[in-house]
Amino acid sequence: MEIHAAHGYLISQFHAPFENRRTDMYGGSLENRARFGLEALRAVKAAVPGMPVVYRLSVEDFFPGGLTFDEGRQIAVWAAEAGADALHVTAGHYRSLPSAQIVLPPMSFPDATFLDFAAGVKQAVRVPVIAVGRLGDPATAAQAVASGKTDFIALGRSLVADPQWVEKVARGEPIRRCLACNTCINEMRGGARIGCVVNGAAGRETMFAEAGPPRGERIAVIGAGPAGLTYASLVAEGNKVTVFEKEARAGGAFRYAGKAPLFQEVVASEHSFERYIADLVAACTHKGVEFRFNTDATERPELLAPFDRLVIATGAAYRFGFGPIATKLLDWGIARLPGFAWLFSNPSFRDWFYYRGRRGTADRFRALGRPGQTVIAIGDGVRAGKSKQAIADAFEAALLRA
Ligand SMILES: Cc1cc2nc3c(=O)[nH]c(=O)nc-3n(C[C@H](O)[C@H](O)[C@H](O)COP(=O)(O)O)c2cc1C
Ligand code: SF4
Repeated sequence: MEIHAAHGYLISQFHAPFENRRTDMYGGSLENRARFGLEALRAVKAAVPGMPVVYRLSVEDFFPGGLTFDEGRQIAVWAAEAGADALHVTAGHYRSLPSAQIVLPPMSFPDATFLDFAAGVKQAVRVPVIAVGRLGDPATAAQAVASGKTDFIALGRSLVADPQWVEKVARGEPIRRCLACNTCINEMRGGARIGCVVNGAAGRETMFAEAGPPRGERIAVIGAGPAGLTYASLVAEGNKVTVFEKEARAGGAFRYAGKAPLFQEVVASEHSFERYIADLVAACTHKGVEFRFNTDATERPELLAPFDRLVIATGAAYRFGFGPIATKLLDWGIARLPGFAWLFSNPSFRDWFYYRGRRGTADRFRALGRPGQTVIAIGDGVRAGKSKQAIADAFEAALLRA
């Protein structure tokens, strides 16, 4: 059982002087502001003796009139004294500045965003401490525990992106890495069911429960962008998969996504996309996928002859020959210069730049198919759209349309 005293929910509101204007024994001094949550904790411990109870608290609210870390650490000490069996140390509040996004630190924030807060609490208590917040990098997670800064790590988004994170890390396999794009939480807050940019099965697991990839086929995937790589990673077991990519490296559209000012609703970070692609390539390689870089399938169609299935994941291209200009603008960092950043953050411009100004390239690859081969096209190759839809399409094609 976990008592939630974080992120601006009820107990956390008692903690913040800006919100708690009470003049009775539940407001004013820190002791009074902490009283409500600690009474709840003691009452739960008394009602269910023997039940381990975790106290989860924001130790820093990040706004004037919110809880400060010194105060948060003191409440953690009192919670341990009141019987908490572990302390789950987080930070942030819906009033946090510059934005409440910090509760789920987006991709522009560093890994292990709140780990030093956990370490500060750990020095002050004897019960186990659980750290949370951008600990989805396996090496960072291991180091957080090994360094003695925390006893446990908690994962939120990393498990949405890859529910097998724990098993894979235990087996030493590459994970499907969360981008920290916050699409999951932002869409959920907007009333939609949970979904994930990189995990096309998130929120609709039952649809995929009985599904499986094709078996015993030789599969050629044309295009090593996010959709092609995702497809290859999902069908790699039980098939012989080769990915053809005309560029010297993988990544496709994601090589540019981090160069724009925004990705979805958050400030973009190239590092996040690079790590995601590197892990996806590593996951494919781990499962025996072969990569043929610098190989344009249209120039060497004979290479595709031995395959049972061609999967066209060639992405979208700009109309009117605008492609080289668009990629140069992003490569030179122009999209992030003040005036341009405004333009690239404008919803109508983004709509044109990413969707309406591009069109799928799959049609000219379909003719490469030979009699007896199954030919399918996926993702942006069919129609320029959001990465979430392109990757979801790769999931459906790999697992539902086998
Ligand atoms: C889809 C989703 C829903 C969440 N809902 C809540 C919530 O209701 N209350 C809360 O305090 N934190 C919520 N969180 C925040 C997580 O508990 C966690 O603190 C946060 O995601 C940071 O950890 P991470 O970097 O591993 O994702 C949610 C996170 C996600 C991804
Ligand atoms: S939607 Fe984005 S932030 Fe959420 S789990 Fe997926 S990759 Fe991570």
